[in-house]
Amino acid sequence: MNDFKSKIENLREDFNKYKIDIKNLPKHPVSMFSNWIKQALENNDQANAFVLSTVSNKNIPSSRVVLLRGFDENGFTFFTNYQSKKSIDIEKNNTVALNFHWPESQRQVRIIGKAEKISAANSDKYFNSRPRESQIGAWVSEQSTVVSLYFKFVNAMDEIESKFKGKKVERPKHWGGYKIMPSSIEFWQGRPFRLHQRIKYSLHKNNWKIERLSP
Ligand SMILES: Cc1cc2nc3c(=O)[nH]c(=O)nc-3n(C[C@H](O)[C@H](O)[C@H](O)COP(=O)(O)O)c2cc1C
Repeated sequence: MNDFKSKIENLREDFNKYKIDIKNLPKHPVSMFSNWIKQALENNDQANAFVLSTVSNKNIPSSRVVLLRGFDENGFTFFTNYQSKKSIDIEKNNTVALNFHWPESQRQVRIIGKAEKISAANSDKYFNSRPRESQIGAWVSEQSTVVSLYFKFVNAMDEIESKFKGKKVERPKHWGGYKIMPSSIEFWQGRPFRLHQRIKYSLHKNNWKIERLSP
């Protein structure tokens, strides 16, 4: 009966798919992130999913998966409901942690940074590109609030659908993007015998300092 439990205890994977070229590290961590997420896509990892951790005003941490929708040298963008639990946390403390785990690539990327709302114009641009059903869904869901066990989301969808019948669905003001401006990015590459490679970039006075961490 407890076979699966002993399986969990004994699951072991040796990592040897990639090796970080320590002598040729990019100067900017986002160049390295860009190479890694490209390879994650090629390896059929769920490349744009990451765990976002926030801390509440009572110092209680919480984590959830969200989807990366864009990134550049200034940060990483995702979209959500601005009234959700995560957004309430961010309002009080905008320092957040991101964790990308790409098992097919035997890689992890850990990011710490500050989350800021993106402009309404940029949120509109992304919202307008979403399928109509997702746009309506953004109106229906008061994300993270408690609803009745038997709440009929389909009826609520129909109601919103009839409100916007024949019209473009406007972005609800409580839905939009955050951009996380990184201050630290750690790249973890799985290696044989648990001698994994860890390279950490930290921002000091606008310069990225590069350090190696013991596995
Ligand atoms: C694969 C996956 C992708 C998700 N993407 C998003 C996303 O991009 N934005 C979002 O708000 N929630 C997303 N969610 C749902 C969140 O994990 C979470 O349930 C929701 O945002 C409410 O979190 P909160 O109550 O902590 O605010 C995703 C969940 C999964 C499993």
